[in-house]
Amino acid sequence: MSDNHLRLGVNIDHVATIRNARGGAYPDPIRAAKLAEEAGANGITAHLREDRRHILDADIEGLMEALTVPLNFEMAATDEMQKIALRHKPHAVCIVPEKREERTTEGGLEVAREENKLAHFIAPLRDVGCRVSIFIAADQRQIEAAHRIGAGVIELHTGAYCDFHAEGKLDDAARELEALREMSAYAHSLGLEVHAGHGLTYDTVQPVAAFPEVRELNIGHFLIGEAIFRGLTPAVHEMRRLMDEARG
Ligand code: PXP
Repeated sequence: MSDNHLRLGVNIDHVATIRNARGGAYPDPIRAAKLAEEAGANGITAHLREDRRHILDADIEGLMEALTVPLNFEMAATDEMQKIALRHKPHAVCIVPEKREERTTEGGLEVAREENKLAHFIAPLRDVGCRVSIFIAADQRQIEAAHRIGAGVIELHTGAYCDFHAEGKLDDAARELEALREMSAYAHSLGLEVHAGHGLTYDTVQPVAAFPEVRELNIGHFLIGEAIFRGLTPAVHEMRRLMDEARG
């Protein structure tokens, strides 16, 4: 695959949200993950939250067995999650902040203030071969701290950019996009691999996909929503098309 290739990670959390609304087995997030894989997803992302509000432990086991593309396991920096990750050894682990009361991952991780703790937390994950990524805001301090603790990858939080865009606050969205652009280049200059995600849609994906330093986008909620209207396979295909077009 060329150096310029931008990977698409499809997050299937919200298939599990719909399943859990009725407490049964349908719709199955693993079936959705396989479909996304066949549609061209380069990886599948799943967030095992402390409160198990969507993805469940058995889903992680099922994904590890069923997938042929890499699993990106999103988790909070807790002992419980570290044990689970060390047991499964997924291709990638993305460390995210987590608050019980939040609806989704609201901000980036505070790495700068928790440097020592996080350095110790990620070391065993790296030792077993997981690619460790840290989900952070486009903030130079956090990027430098992620670099110091030995993370190979950062994922930049695109939520504020997408929220401003959705609210029609286009000047604010442009300002956020500029910060994402500058910080992608800065992180890359430190030798970090740069990913991005959160809140991306067909309307917001292209400017981010065009950043040459960004190697992977993780997209979930919009794609699962769009699957209701056009089906998951065409929804993924359209995202892929827009990413490739932006990449030129
Ligand atoms: N990246 C990270 C680190 C996330 O926590 C999430 C949400 O789980 C996403 C990407 C995907 O965000 P969305 O579901 O809004 O596309």
